[in-house]
Amino acid sequence: MTYAVIYFSRTGTSRRIAEKIAKKLSVEPVEMTDNMDWDGTLGYMRAARYAMQNKDVTVQTRGQIGTVDEYIVITPMWCGKITPAIRILLQDLPKDKVHLIVSSGGMNLKERDGYLSVLDIMKKDKNEDQLIDAFVGGLST
Ligand SMILES: Cc1cc2nc3c(=O)[nH]c(=O)nc-3n(C[C@H](O)[C@H](O)[C@H](O)COP(=O)(O)O)c2cc1C
Repeated sequence: MTYAVIYFSRTGTSRRIAEKIAKKLSVEPVEMTDNMDWDGTLGYMRAARYAMQNKDVTVQTRGQIGTVDEYIVITPMWCGKITPAIRILLQDLPKDKVHLIVSSGGMNLKERDGYLSVLDIMKKDKNEDQLIDAFVGGLST
């Protein structure tokens, strides 16, 4: 199986998870960015509003997402949802080939239908490395 590891991150947690998974799979992680400023308190409030209202952003990909068998997509949770950048990305990917990984403070993603798999990595559980090991171990090579 071939895999692409794609992520969006505001404060680095999803980036770290993506880098760990990509390293284990010997691929380069691909970062999604957008046209927004999510920094600081105002950025946090903006992020919450964009997530809650399903507002669109303009996305850019840093690197190439090649043709692969399955996609591993890592996103922070914003207000119970995936981030706008990843929501836009997923419009162009076959959902049934996407392993979605959601990094959150302590909540499970509610909208989980249609993905190949969904994994919640929650800060409160402090088990990021164990979950990553189990996830990568469960992939077909
Ligand atoms: C706008 C905003 C909303 C958030 N909403 C939730 C939430 O509903 N539930 C939760 O468990 N964590 C929530 N978080 C926490 C993040 O999901 C968590 O810190 C995540 O690991 C951050 O990933 P990052 O460092 O890659 O940006 C929220 C964070 C932000 C910025």
